[in-house]
Amino acid sequence: MFVNSKARTWTCSSTVDVEIDSFHRSLPGYSQTPLLDCSSITELALKNVFLKDESARMGLPAFKILGASWATYKAITKLLQLPLTANVQAVKDGIAQKHEGLTLFAATEGNHGRAVAKMASLLGIQSQIFVPQYLNKSTRNLIENEGGNVVVVPGDYNEAVLRAKNTAHEIGINGLLIQDTAFDGYEDIPQWIVDGYSTMMHEADSQIYSITQAQPNVIVVPVGVGSLAQSVVTHYKSRGHPCTIIAVEPESANCLQMSLESGALTSVSTKDTIMCGLNCGTVSSIAWPVLRNGVDVSVCVTDAEAHESLLQLKECQAVIGPCAAATLAALKKVAPRLDKNAVVLLLGTEGIRDYEVPT
Ligand SMILES: Cc1ncc(COP(=O)(O)O)c(C=O)c1O
Repeated sequence: MFVNSKARTWTCSSTVDVEIDSFHRSLPGYSQTPLLDCSSITELALKNVFLKDESARMGLPAFKILGASWATYKAITKLLQLPLTANVQAVKDGIAQKHEGLTLFAATEGNHGRAVAKMASLLGIQSQIFVPQYLNKSTRNLIENEGGNVVVVPGDYNEAVLRAKNTAHEIGINGLLIQDTAFDGYEDIPQWIVDGYSTMMHEADSQIYSITQAQPNVIVVPVGVGSLAQSVVTHYKSRGHPCTIIAVEPESANCLQMSLESGALTSVSTKDTIMCGLNCGTVSSIAWPVLRNGVDVSVCVTDAEAHESLLQLKECQAVIGPCAAATLAALKKVAPRLDKNAVVLLLGTEGIRDYEVPT
């Protein structure tokens, strides 16, 4: 466990667009995802533990559509010089008039690419989703079912990102890369993806307030490249009341913890984990400065711990996947240090899916 005691008093400002919540509400299939009360998990000895259940978000089994949809919309409205209040039909009309052939590009291990493909279909445009060669057929089919054209890249995820970026670049103005991690010279769209995730926190805050008349003051967030955690830190550390952010990673993909310990952005080579969405070796370049200052506690968990927590959460009616269950596994490690009256929010980022049960 890594504890950054300076994060307690660190604050930042948020520049998130006010239009995001209403944009998401305007999308087909939008509704608030449920908030589940998990305070009955007695071993935690905490009075208020809630899980934001992202297992069904606009027809997809993960939170990622929140970021992909907003970033796509903002990038296209900018291209078409439309205001951020333009509706989906106005965007479709603008594309037909000025940018016929506009295509979205993304690389993915699954959830992000599926969300980008869905957004392209909604706007009536094409998408090309680049996947590493080891991505299983059923995940590729799910992307295709959303209308995405899947391109299998001979290589790993990083190679897929490179191919998506280069192909979008070759196409020119009509090739739009919607990638959920930033790198040198590519920062705006990843930032808008981060901004889009804020809807999850807005929903959770009002749901928790209606039950407790209080705001969450301990938030547990799963970390892959750290974009979701960047959104969480920006949201909760810009609001003027103290709050503890706990970041959780798989032991086998602990790039944030290694970076925090060394004080510099550090890549790690990762190993297979049941927490697939968290299997990332490098923190996003725009997330790192925010996480270095704003993450209070960094915790690593094993596959077995995530699996055990998943079973415990099932008893609280949460039918969620291992990345989501990792939050409970982390909370169990930190709970003895917390105020018993804390209001805890676990970000349950994905629904249940098949995985090999760890022994
Ligand atoms: C289910 C799930 N949870 C959490 C994350 C972590 O998000 P990030 O990569 O922004 O840290 C991911 C990333 O893909 C994911 O798929």
